[in-house]
Amino acid sequence: MTIRTVATTPFTDQKPGTSGLRKAVPTFQQPHYLENFIQSIFDSLDGIQGQTLVVGGDGRYYNRQAIQIILRMAAANGIGRILVGCDGIFSTPAASAVIRKYNALGGIILSASHNPGGPNGDFGVKYNVTNGGPAPEKVTEAIFECTKAISEYKILDAADINLDRPGSFKLGTMDVEVMDSVAPYVELMQKLFDFDQIKALLSSGSFRMCMDSLHAVTGPYAHALFEKHLGAPTGTVLNGTPLEDFGGGHPDPNLVYAHDLVEILFGENAPDFGAASDGDGDRNMILGRNFFVTPSDSLAVLTANAKLVPGYKDGIAGVARSMPTSEAVDRVAKKLGIECYETPTGWKFFGNLLDAGKATLCGEESFGTGSNHIREKDGLWAVLFWLNILAVRGESVEKIVRDHWKEYGRNYYSRHDYEEVESGPANELMDRLRSMGGELTGKQFGNYTVAYSDDFSYTDPVDGSVSSKQGIRIGFTDGSRIVFRLSGTGTKGATLRVYIESYEPDASKHNIDTQEALKPLIQLAEEIAKIQQFTGRTEPTVIT
Ligand code: G6P
Ligand code: ZN
Repeated sequence: MTIRTVATTPFTDQKPGTSGLRKAVPTFQQPHYLENFIQSIFDSLDGIQGQTLVVGGDGRYYNRQAIQIILRMAAANGIGRILVGCDGIFSTPAASAVIRKYNALGGIILSASHNPGGPNGDFGVKYNVTNGGPAPEKVTEAIFECTKAISEYKILDAADINLDRPGSFKLGTMDVEVMDSVAPYVELMQKLFDFDQIKALLSSGSFRMCMDSLHAVTGPYAHALFEKHLGAPTGTVLNGTPLEDFGGGHPDPNLVYAHDLVEILFGENAPDFGAASDGDGDRNMILGRNFFVTPSDSLAVLTANAKLVPGYKDGIAGVARSMPTSEAVDRVAKKLGIECYETPTGWKFFGNLLDAGKATLCGEESFGTGSNHIREKDGLWAVLFWLNILAVRGESVEKIVRDHWKEYGRNYYSRHDYEEVESGPANELMDRLRSMGGELTGKQFGNYTVAYSDDFSYTDPVDGSVSSKQGIRIGFTDGSRIVFRLSGTGTKGATLRVYIESYEPDASKHNIDTQEALKPLIQLAEEIAKIQQFTGRTEPTVIT
């Protein structure tokens, strides 16, 4: 087996976004494209010789080919050992768990998360660091610098490794361990949750649940957890066979893309509980019978009920939410007397807080929830957390959330997405809002008075690093908020996200339709940002 050094030239578009480098599959299939990025990861890291790396992906189209290339490049670059999931599969949370369990230097996760897959779908590469979490900005910037200067990469001439079953191999001098990609994750979940109590609930016959894996990576994990270990009947997991193109669907667990599950939970004879997860298994959506739990409310409810769950029975140190996530959890934190951190969008910003023991639970409006058990958000963890609470409280999802609102007030919340709009005008819209800055403060719009308006900037309380330009926040004196930002995960044009939130303490007003309750603020968002003028759109493409 010989190591080849291949001459190459830089691609100019390899800047990692919110969650790694995400591009259409044909972009990744260009000669040297993947190789350049992987070599840049290796070049940016110090002391990789002899180290352990974890590699796996969500099983989407191009996963297998990419894994073989990465294995050969890792061997050529002096990596000591690679842990790779069977079939090249690891859900993102499982990869994070394995990096931590084996004290690996880091991991390369192949996924474009909730973006569609297939030959014309998306693919992605993300580097996670030694704590199991996404690389912080200083690491992704170093990788980007390397992509701009690259002139060669190293790859071993060798045959493909058989990834079909667990086994140990040698690739040059590097050890390759092909491992069961589900077992280590299940073991971790068994440490956190009361499996006996959840099993009693799921096998009682009086409680029915439905888990939609959307033909994506969580299928095998969900079959193992719910049907094998927790006694739920076969058939509980829907779309549990991962497909390279996710069956042509959009593996994003929200009201729009997980509509089949929504129909079941809002249909006749609906089960008690429904959940879905995304392409790589880190997102989740929680539904009760005829009831949708917003991700922001979910974080608040989990925080308020954490002591009911074995892994968190001693209480939690603090919570963190991304800036656009509703302030529902802030109210719980206040009552519990713990700190609530507001970070920019992107799970990587939670890493330092979790490492420093400042936060135990974290969550985002973008259907992400997680804790200090790993350094990624974790879809099935959130489902198990809910099931554990349901098993202990013996009440319905709806009752638990409504009681929560009674106690803390309700944060009506919705996100309006304008997908695939032209980048130029979308940036102009943001620049205009940015330039309005503080001049909005004190201004009156109908019943609303602007209390503050800024472009969110975050100073990490652990390492002092500053992340600016993270989205326009407009806060009103009654606690309502409108937030504008451009998505950092799209691959086509720009996506404008408008987040709208209104606080209602009065329990007699907790039954209003969300879009109805938010109507005045939705109109105000248009009035202030002139969305129609800049995007040419009269309506959002997705409302969650
Ligand atoms: C990924 C990240 C999340 C983040 C989300 C936002 O899923 O892992 O942490 O909240 O992207 O994406 P956006 O498209 O809004 O930038
Ligand atoms: Zn994801």
